[in-house]
Amino acid sequence: MKNRLKEDIVASGRFGREPERRVDAFDILDPENGVTRPTGTEANAKVRAYAMEKMEEAGLDVRMDAVGNIFGRKKGSDPGVGAVMCGSHLDSVVNGGQLDGALGVFSAIEAVRRLNDEGYTNRRPIEVAVFTGEEGSAFGMTLLGSTALVGKMSYEDALARKNPEGRMLKEVLENSGYAGEFVMDLKNVEYFVELHIEQGPVLYNKKMPIGIVENIAGITWVYATIRGEGNHAGTTPMKMRKDALVAAAEIILFVEKRANEMVDKLGSATVGTVGKLTVFPNGTNIVPGRVELGIDIRDVVPAHMESLKGEVSEALKALEEKYGVSVDVSVPPFHSPEPLSPEVVDIIEKSAAQTGVRTMRMNSGAGHDSQNIASRVKTGMIFVPSVGGISHAPMEWTEWEDIETGAKVLTQTLRNLAGS
Ligand code: GLV
Ligand code: MN
Ligand code: MN
Repeated sequence: MKNRLKEDIVASGRFGREPERRVDAFDILDPENGVTRPTGTEANAKVRAYAMEKMEEAGLDVRMDAVGNIFGRKKGSDPGVGAVMCGSHLDSVVNGGQLDGALGVFSAIEAVRRLNDEGYTNRRPIEVAVFTGEEGSAFGMTLLGSTALVGKMSYEDALARKNPEGRMLKEVLENSGYAGEFVMDLKNVEYFVELHIEQGPVLYNKKMPIGIVENIAGITWVYATIRGEGNHAGTTPMKMRKDALVAAAEIILFVEKRANEMVDKLGSATVGTVGKLTVFPNGTNIVPGRVELGIDIRDVVPAHMESLKGEVSEALKALEEKYGVSVDVSVPPFHSPEPLSPEVVDIIEKSAAQTGVRTMRMNSGAGHDSQNIASRVKTGMIFVPSVGGISHAPMEWTEWEDIETGAKVLTQTLRNLAGS
């Protein structure tokens, strides 16, 4: 039989590769050329269209909400009970892989197809979900669509966020045909479940096919703009410079050093990264006049995140006096660490046992829409191994056999949840 899930992942994985290219084996991944499809790009519009077509083919009733979250409903037999939602995201980081997010969307569609094929009658409605802007690669914050959906941010504020070209999410969605009017009321959703690649080394190293997530780490981003004085690299004496990049270098090392110290002292899961650095005007013979930094701080303990964020903000301010620069700091809405539902963890464990698959419980260091949805709905996550623990990079990969195991466990979980 044709492997529909593999076909969807390979076909959708061509969107955002330049040139478009189908990748169905680890050996033909290109370490320099991954998948780039932030919200608002043509590649993102194409992958959404592909997914919506598959949802419709699977008999789902497809609708879109104001921030472009997509929902596809399979009716249930009992109109009086809450739905089971299942899905993930289709946007990607810059130069990422074809599985982060897409696996969760296409395996949810495949699970519905399998249930349809076997003539399964779901008591609860099933809603396949695609969330907008999970990665934050275009609109300055992660988990954008689910943040609006759970009401942590208004739809207006989400729609007013701007991408690097200065275009608002509202305009981008309208221009690409992904602005909808549907309103999903989470009061009518009883469970949410998301299948995702682990994106870390734990399952792969342990040769464990399935991870069941108990907690998801929180994420705080800090943006800083350091303004010094652009000037001639040859004529500006060392003692007369206001070099914004030298000031930024101090922060990069500070974040790395303090996160390491916290890990050593507290035994915490703290991570701190300066992943984004934009240097203006970026010329070899020019003293850099302005630098923008994007700083990512995570932990499963909110106080640890807060404390590192506070220290980083102070260190940024201290640059002003030391280097004669000015520093502006902005912090987008943060995402708190979130425990997932013990009830859903148990049901996933039972579903895996019914499928004959070994599992382990674990935490997620990566952020997921699940952590937002968990604040309103009983939520669980299923992880499959990432080869070499690589993700957010072109070499991201999961073996097809592991993907099939994940799809089987997800389908059985849906049978159990939608039948309950
Ligand atoms: C989202 O994928 C994140 O963890 O940054
Ligand atoms: Mn993801
Ligand atoms: Mn990601």
